Amino acid sequence: MTKTTVGILPHGGQLIDLLDESDATRQAAEKLPSLTINAWNLSDLELIGIGGFSPLTGFMSEADYRGVVDNMHLTNGVLWSIPITLPVDEATAETVTIGQEVALKTADGTLYGTLTVTDKFRPDKQVEAQKVYGTTESAHPGVKRMLDNGDVYLGGPIKLLKQPSHGEFDQFYMAPKATRQMFHELGWETIVGFQTRNPIHRAHEFIQKTALESVDGLLLNPLVGETKADDIPADVRMDSYQTILKHYYPADRVRLVIYPAAMRYAGPREAILHATVRKNYGCTHFIVGRDHAGVGDYYGTYEAQALITSVESELGMGFFKFENSFYCKRCGSMATAKTCPHPDDDHISLSGTKVRKMLSDGVVPPKEVSRPEVAQVLIDGLKRKAAMVHE
Ligand code: ADX
Repeated sequence: MTKTTVGILPHGGQLIDLLDESDATRQAAEKLPSLTINAWNLSDLELIGIGGFSPLTGFMSEADYRGVVDNMHLTNGVLWSIPITLPVDEATAETVTIGQEVALKTADGTLYGTLTVTDKFRPDKQVEAQKVYGTTESAHPGVKRMLDNGDVYLGGPIKLLKQPSHGEFDQFYMAPKATRQMFHELGWETIVGFQTRNPIHRAHEFIQKTALESVDGLLLNPLVGETKADDIPADVRMDSYQTILKHYYPADRVRLVIYPAAMRYAGPREAILHATVRKNYGCTHFIVGRDHAGVGDYYGTYEAQALITSVESELGMGFFKFENSFYCKRCGSMATAKTCPHPDDDHISLSGTKVRKMLSDGVVPPKEVSRPEVAQVLIDGLKRKAAMVHE
């Protein structure tokens, strides 16, 4: 555990570091009975281990889980909005006893960590769905994921024994302690974090740059873990981020670092998680726009902002909350209803679904919606993907 950290205080007060890559620990862990974890579990394990989920030191105990589901607090009183759990099926749960240490391996047999099992419990998934996602509908991708997972949750402290590879994104990987150090070296005292699971369009650019007018630097922190099938794949997005940064952002005021998490689409509750994690990465501020982490029509446009506002003092960081942004033909610029007096007819904005359809059809969206250089990278990337599928 790191005693002193530079910059903003991590959530809960201490930046957790549970990475232990020593041969001795690995050899001991190889002798333990093992559980198979999937990509989702691995990304949670990693984020706990590297301190992204500070102050969590493991998968949630039953008491923490209940506190989080029911009233968004851990048993130690710290705000936490989303359960971080290790679900297993009944048969696997039978093989595990309380107090036992188990190795956590992916399906290919790679050892990534250990869990000392302190809790084994059966969650009420309907309650979890309703409280965390605001719906029990299995059409919701986060709810579906949760329902498909095993019915027993294992809790307890973990060790991270191997840093997962992020393949071609490794050059953009940094642990929270490294981003904090980087901000310190850059001399940035105020840093705004930006979460995204989409290519950067003009509205994103507008809200980022508006925030950047008031702080020292921007951490562009795209989520690259599991997303739903119709979201633009992370590798294509990463190319597009580099392109827009190259053409439209001052290099000395932005850093691109991946956020290796899975997307839960939990809207308001996930907005709190997103902010919490970015604080752990060293961001002093966080952007929450319209329908943050939303999907379909499950959440109100500004519900995430409202929930954030209700816990802002507990989060201990600043927020830039933006209204729906669009290009206004009469203003000749990006704007929101707060700054533009013109009617909707003068506004150019397209839904993400529409833009994705245009891009996959090879159609360049209007320059008021997407930078042409970015659109081209996305069209090429999606074409490449489609060709791979048909090979
Ligand atoms: S998210 O699931 O990661 O939130 P997305 O990548 O689309 O989705 O959004 C990233 C951030 O930009 C979120 O804070 C979101 O609210 C904000 N945002 C996206 N589009 C707009 C827009 N047109 N106007 C204002 N904010 C927006």
